Amino acid sequence: MSGAPLRDADPAVAGLVDAEVARRATTVSLIASESVSTPGVRAALGSEFGDKYAEGHPGHRYHGGCEVVDELEELAVARARELFGAEYADVQPVSGSVANLAVYAAFAQPDDAVLALSLRHGGHQTHGSRANFSGRWFTPVSYELDMSDERIDYDKLRDTAMFYKPRILVAGASGYSRHIDFAAMRSIADEAGCILWVDAAHIAGLAIAGIGPSPVEYADVVTVSTQKIMRGPRGGVILGRAEHADALRRAVYPFVQGGPNMAAIAAKAVAFAESATSEYRDYARRVVENAAALASALVDGGLRVVSGGTDNHLAVIDVTELGLTGRAAADALGAAGIVVDKAVLPFDPAPVALGSAFRVGTPTVTSAGQTVSDMAVLAARILDVLAGAAR
Ligand SMILES: Cc1ncc(COP(=O)(O)O)c(C=O)c1O
Repeated sequence: MSGAPLRDADPAVAGLVDAEVARRATTVSLIASESVSTPGVRAALGSEFGDKYAEGHPGHRYHGGCEVVDELEELAVARARELFGAEYADVQPVSGSVANLAVYAAFAQPDDAVLALSLRHGGHQTHGSRANFSGRWFTPVSYELDMSDERIDYDKLRDTAMFYKPRILVAGASGYSRHIDFAAMRSIADEAGCILWVDAAHIAGLAIAGIGPSPVEYADVVTVSTQKIMRGPRGGVILGRAEHADALRRAVYPFVQGGPNMAAIAAKAVAFAESATSEYRDYARRVVENAAALASALVDGGLRVVSGGTDNHLAVIDVTELGLTGRAAADALGAAGIVVDKAVLPFDPAPVALGSAFRVGTPTVTSAGQTVSDMAVLAARILDVLAGAAR
């Protein structure tokens, strides 16, 4: 992407772009939260829309000259509503985390209890980590995976929800490889009298392809990141029921954000259209096939995969048996050009900074055209590197 203008304007930055391009060309990314943005998305992201200030929402802007961006945002919202099947969509959140902050702003007051999957069992820091606003300003309560099968135990979750009666029940995770039963989550939220928020940052890109359950019909509110499995720009989307539209709109602007990034909104509009195609559905299907193939080849090679496998695009691999920490495994793989995240196991005795696992995801390798047979080769290489590191 480093064309002549950037090279002339700023050789240092252009050189770093070249270095990143080279890094990508010489490594394999198995980062579960990354994919590869499409050329259309990149063009929109670098467009003139990036210069336009447009605080507010279409038809209600603080700034002048918003006729065109109003049309753009309305187009993006219409596409998002259709793609996700949602009554209400806000395409302004600059990221998934900021979309999550807006959900708290719309539905909770400081100190309210929010019940979410424990960070150490695959949750996300915006679901109640003490290092994040969510754990600092609200009262985090967590549920854990079942020790025997490393899956959500919905009966136990129901008991926890009835005990704490939280303001919000959060479904969704960063490191959970199984489909979530959104109907069960809805019935728990109804019984406990709370809002059901699905943080679909990761899995939204599968749900729109009809792979795995869609949370939209069950949840009061759903948040999405447009860059994880979807091949869009870095950004967030909020989807909700019409009855929550005013609260959600005000939560995004003016409560959480100022002027939205209109170029990112243009890129989201492109991504929504591209994600509605059969090419995208085929890509999403291959992402899941590749993840299953990679996980099962690693199991065949003697490693344990959390919950025994995966239903989605990611898997968490236990390296305890090798006598490695997750950090050591991720470092060894990184040195061999296979880029992964270190991770913790459910009930991991190791400190978070080390962990006993690593997380793999397949959107990027699938975007690069890799197939199930390539996953067998990749798994063999991973096993080889880890065996070397364990010696
Ligand atoms: C479950 C979950 N929610 C939210 C986020 C935050 O997304 P973003 O990086 O777009 O802020 C992530 C990021 O990995 C995530 O896994």
